[in-house]
Formats: sequence, C-alpha cells, structure tokens
Amino acid sequence: DLSLDRIREMRPSGIILSGGPSSVYDPGAPTLGPEIFALGVPVLGICYGVQLLVKLLGGEVIPATHREYGRAQVRVVGTSPLLFGFPPGEELLVWMSHGDRIERLPPGFVHEGQTASTRAAVIADEARRIYGVQFHPEVMHTPRGVELLQNFLFRICGARPEWTMAQLLPQAVARIVEQVGDGRAICGLSGGVDSAVAAALVLRAIGPRLSCILVDNGLLRHGERRDVESLFRDAFHADLHVVDAGERFLSALRGVTDPEKKRKHIGRLFIDVFEEKARALEQSDGKTVDFLVQGTLYPDVIESVSHRGPSAMIKSHHNVGGLPERMRLKLVEPLRELFKDEVRELGLELGLPPRVVQRQPFPGPGLSVRVLGEVTKERLVTVRAADAIVEEEVRASGLYETLWQSFAVLLPVKSVGVMGDQRTYADTIAVRAVQSRDGMTADWAALPTELLGTISRRIVNEVQGVSRVVYDITSKPPGTIEWE
Ligand code: XMP
Repeated sequence: DLSLDRIREMRPSGIILSGGPSSVYDPGAPTLGPEIFALGVPVLGICYGVQLLVKLLGGEVIPATHREYGRAQVRVVGTSPLLFGFPPGEELLVWMSHGDRIERLPPGFVHEGQTASTRAAVIADEARRIYGVQFHPEVMHTPRGVELLQNFLFRICGARPEWTMAQLLPQAVARIVEQVGDGRAICGLSGGVDSAVAAALVLRAIGPRLSCILVDNGLLRHGERRDVESLFRDAFHADLHVVDAGERFLSALRGVTDPEKKRKHIGRLFIDVFEEKARALEQSDGKTVDFLVQGTLYPDVIESVSHRGPSAMIKSHHNVGGLPERMRLKLVEPLRELFKDEVRELGLELGLPPRVVQRQPFPGPGLSVRVLGEVTKERLVTVRAADAIVEEEVRASGLYETLWQSFAVLLPVKSVGVMGDQRTYADTIAVRAVQSRDGMTADWAALPTELLGTISRRIVNEVQGVSRVVYDITSKPPGTIEWE
C-alpha cells in the first residue's frame, strides 16, 4: 500500500516480498506495480512473494493440485551470493508451505536450488539482483534459514549488522527528547516487561517530567505491586503514583461472568481511573500532561497494518486505548519497532534487573481472566496463591525462561475429594504452561512429571479450598493461551 515515490524516498537497501496465505490467482490477492523491480534495489521473494514476482516478471505460476506442507530437502545447484556458505551439492533442510508452483522462470532467471517436487526452490537473476525462495527461511523449522537472510542483507544489499540494543539505546533516547521537547508525559506501569522498559527508557530521556501511574486493580500477581514500587520508586527514583482501585474494579465485576464483558468493564474502568489520576496530577502542580507513553511492540504494529486490515479479533485486548483522544494526549511509543526479545535486551541495557526483564507476559485484564466465572475477592486470593506456587516451582526447576507462560487458572468447577478422613467438595485449579515465540500460536509444554507432582501437592496443601489440580494439554490453536 505504499506508492512508488514513497518507497523511493525511503531509499531502502533491499525489499523483501513476504509469504502469505493467498494464491496469486485469488481475486484481490496482494500485488504491486512491476516498476518496483526497476528501482535497482535488491529484491527477495519468499513463498507467495517469489510466486508474485515470477508472475509479474513474465514467468508462469500454476495452480497446485495439492498443497506442499512440511519439511523438505533443498539441493543447492548454483553459486549465487544468496547461497554463500552452501556449496553446490549441499543439502539444506527447509520448511515448505505453499499451494501454487513455479512452472517457468521469467527471462533472466536461473535455478539455484531444487527439491524432489520443484526445480524452483531457489531462483536468482544476478544481473537485476532479484532472488526468490519457495520455502520459508524465517521459521525455526528451516534451521539455517537465518544464514540465507544474512546473505541477502549483508552480501547482496550491503546492509551492516548494526541493529544492536547498545546502539539503539542512545538513538531511542534522542528521539524521545526530540518528540517530547520540554513537555510532560505520563506512563502506566502494569508490572509487565513492556511498560517497564518503555517507562525506563522515557525516564532516561526526560527524567522527572515523566510521571508513572500504577493502577492497583486488585487483579495483579503476587508481589507485583511491591516489585514495581521498589524498582521504580527506590531504584530509579521515578515519580511513581500508585492508585488503590481494587474495590472499584471488584464492584464493577460483581455478577459478571462473560469473558468479553469482563474485559470491557476492566478496560473502561482502567481508563477512568487513569484519567482521574492524570487530571489530579495536573491540578496539583498546574502543569498539563501532553504525552502518554505506551509499550506498543512491533507485532501490534504489523497486525494493525496487515493487507486485509487489522487481523480478525479473537479477544478484545486491553490497553489504555481511548485515553489519548479523551485527554488530547500525543502518544510516545518508543518500542514500536521492537520484538519482545529485543525489548528484553533493551531492558537489560537500561539496567532493569533480569528478573523483571525475563518475566513472562501477563494479560492486561490480569487475574480476572484466570478466575473463570464471577470474580470475587476470595477467588482472587485463591488463584493468586496457586499462581505464586506455579511460578516459584517453575523457576526452581530452571524452566521459567524456556516457557512463554506458566500459570494457574481457577475453574468454576467443584469436585469431590477426601482429605484426612473427611469428604471434601472443593475447587479445581488448572495449571497451564506453553511454549511460543510470539503468543500467536503455542504448544502446550510437556513439564516433567515430578514438577507437576510438586505443584499439585503444594497447591492442594497450601491453598485453602482447592482439592484438585489438572494440567491443560491444549495447544493454540485450537485453544487460546488464556482460558478467557
Ligand atoms: P490468547 O489467550 O489470546 O493470548 O492466546 C495470547 C497472549 O496475549 C496475552 N493476552 C493479553 N495481553 N491484554 C494483553 O495485554 C489482553 O487483554 C490479553 N489477553 C491475552 C496472553 O497472556 C498471551 O500471552
């Protein structure tokens, strides 16, 4: 959706046409003007991207009779710089996922790598520096795919590997100084990694002109409020304001069991509370607030500019959306070009403790979406205690940082048990642990049985009112990571 002029202005070092679910024959499939190939900028097409460029440059793509999906071996037959480090004859394990197939190459192209099912697994036109791979070099299942991408970036495009967090930090600080000028900013802290890193970064740039607000909505994890206070107030000397809003959130949630309604109530109330506090700050010292700092990451940006518009919404995600318009605030989003692992690295550069930086993601609506059914103070106490045990044991096992998330969910299910000589009729906790790269898809984690046993025993012994623990063995899809 960029014009050719805009692309020229950006002076790209290279262009990657990515994969996608469409067929080049689909009505409305993403496409581009062929003039892009005349810019003299190297191009790499991946999967759908290579089929598109083949079609646009005069080759032939034919509709598939069946999809090719899964592992394949590419045999290298050429000596393109794209294949530096992969001499002819070398076999390369790759991940394929495509329907259509390249039948005839456009003029100027040669085959550089082939599989049992296609001669056009890697193609190149060295004169015009246009390349294509039918497989996905960017996924984990193509173990040496990163080397191909490095070849494209550093050998063909002439880019330099200088996107490091140590280099980025001073640039990011300078950008914030420039944007905020002598204005004043506020930032919501949630206890999570993204808001902590965003706040620490802006703090580095504008110091006391940043006020941080932690809304304690009663839905935080065990120790979270204390951790934020000791880090930001004591270690970073930030202007931190903690708002006690637990009762307000609980009363808004009274009688609410529908997951979407919970999220909506919490989102709305969060903005109300945050806005009240921001206005109170303005009134207390007479200085207006001009900017709101948000920990938006690159995946959120990608979703909102996807070819078919924002991706289909599965759950309404909660942030401080709505506030900027209401308070006429400008957004400062210093992490919007970063992925989660980069945010963590930047956090370490900023001097945040590894424990904070490595903390697993936590949903905005907090423990409310981990108490299935009505959220009450008692049920929050139960799930928080169970969750703290899961975290403690998973950390002790050394697995915490290998998991995307691990947590407890309180189910609206009572079951019969026997404790001592007594028949019991008590609550059920589900334990969930998943591995994921970005939260979009996830595999349930096969935690060691001893660890599961310890977690179960401790929860039943230490958390009042729980007599049964179950382990969730659902991946995403078809499940989501959270239960609500
Ligand atoms: P699901 O449950 O949709 O979650 O598979 C994917 C990831 O997003 C987190 N999550 C949220 N994060 N606000 C957030 O900031 C939310 O409303 C929200 N809901 C889910 C979830 O913990 C997982 O990491």
